[in-house]
This record gives sequence, C-alpha cells and structure tokens, in this order.
Amino acid sequence: MSNSTWRAPFIVIEGLDRSGKTTQTANLYSRLQDEGIQTSLHKFPDRTTAIGQMINAYLCSTSELDDRAVHLLFSANRWELASTIEKTVSARTPVICDRYAFSGIAFSAAKVHSGNGQPLLPFEWCRAPDVGLPAPDLVLFFDITPEQAKARGGYGDERYEKEEMQVRVREMYRRIGEEMGAGDAPGKTKWVVIDAGREREVVQEEVWNLVSPLVKRGIEGPLRRLWV
Ligand code: TYD
Repeated sequence: MSNSTWRAPFIVIEGLDRSGKTTQTANLYSRLQDEGIQTSLHKFPDRTTAIGQMINAYLCSTSELDDRAVHLLFSANRWELASTIEKTVSARTPVICDRYAFSGIAFSAAKVHSGNGQPLLPFEWCRAPDVGLPAPDLVLFFDITPEQAKARGGYGDERYEKEEMQVRVREMYRRIGEEMGAGDAPGKTKWVVIDAGREREVVQEEVWNLVSPLVKRGIEGPLRRLWV
C-alpha cells in the first residue's frame, strides 16, 4: 500500500460450539505465518489474566457468580486488551481474535430463567458494557446446526455446552448479524456467515479468501469503535 496512513486489519472469528472455529483460527494463523505475515492472535475469554481466571472457574463450575457479574467480567476481560489491539493494528500487525463482544452478547442474552424460560438479561443490557470497544473490520461467524454439532460428537462439559442453550445462542448471533448488516460500506464492520458444516478444507479456503486480501491490502483510516 502506497499511502502512509494505512493500518493492519482487526479480524474476529465467532461461532457456535463444535463449529470448528478454534481449528480454523489456528489454521489461518499458521497460513499467515507461512506467508511471512506476522499476526497477533488472541482468544476470549483470555483465561490467563486475573479476571480470566475468575471466568474460567465459573465456566468449569468450580465457582458460582451472579449472571450480571460474570457478564461484566467477560466484558472487562476484553477491555483489558483494547489498547493493545489498537496499538498492534496501528503498528501494522494484523490482529485476529477467537471470540469477542458478539460472544459476550450472544451467550448472556441466551440465558433464561430456569422456572419460566423467560430471558434473564435484556439484549441491550448485554451490549452496553462493550459499546466503544475497538470495532473489527471483519467478523467471520461460523454457523452450524444443532444436528451437525451432535453428529460431531456433541458438546463438552462446560457450563454453556448444552443443546437448548446453543440453539438460543445461535438465534442471538443471527440477530446480532442482522443488526450489523451486510456491512460492505467502507469503514463498516463486515459480518460474514460461514457455513461451518462443510468439509474442513472448503471452509479453510473460504476463510483464506476473505482474510488474505484484507491483510495484504491493509485498511485506510483509524480503527472504529463498536456501536457508537
Ligand atoms: P471458549 O474458551 O472459546 O470455549 P470453546 O473453545 O469451547 O468455544 O469460550 C468459553 C465459553 O465462554 C463459551 O461457551 C462461550 C462463552 N463466552 C461468554 O459467555 N461470553 C463471552 O464474552 C465470551 C468471550 C465467551
């Protein structure tokens, strides 16, 4: 890129449990490395920080926390890294995050009262603490049906890895994606739904075709903020 104002992109990978998100993220990262493109890879929740350790204990059910409190911890765990993300892309190193604010909203807003099945936390309330975080340039949402997830061996043992929960989470992601819009306008987050039920290599190629032009071209203009 000839203009001196360019920066590197900020890319987020989101998805349902069993969608292959983590494998695909690792694959993307190593392909970028192979092409000589140094990339900064993060995963949320980042369980290595003090806040992340509290989240980890909650997810593994070794501690109980109020639903609102844990939601705010997930958000705080992103804010801990916000300025690092900003500095990294300004220094022209692409940033890739495995999960981000969209997981924060989708999983918390999908929680329901055990008695009456009504939502526990309003959608807008769930979004509020993440307003103003660095906005990604591209979000790849790995979508998979509950049937496909089941065929892949079902869910793990962590707190949210239950079928009814995953169905509601999927619905929340759909709502978030709709609100983000197709996003092809310059300077807007582009939200792309990836059909993650296909062969691993096919998905891999689609991801590469979406990410590599951004990384190679760079982005004009500063990093924006989410929902402001
Ligand atoms: P993760 O470590 O990505 O688990 P996995 O690799 O098994 O997908 O995420 C752990 C769980 O935390 C997952 O069920 C999604 C949930 N989560 C939230 O509820 N809020 C958040 O803000 C984030 C980032 C994740």
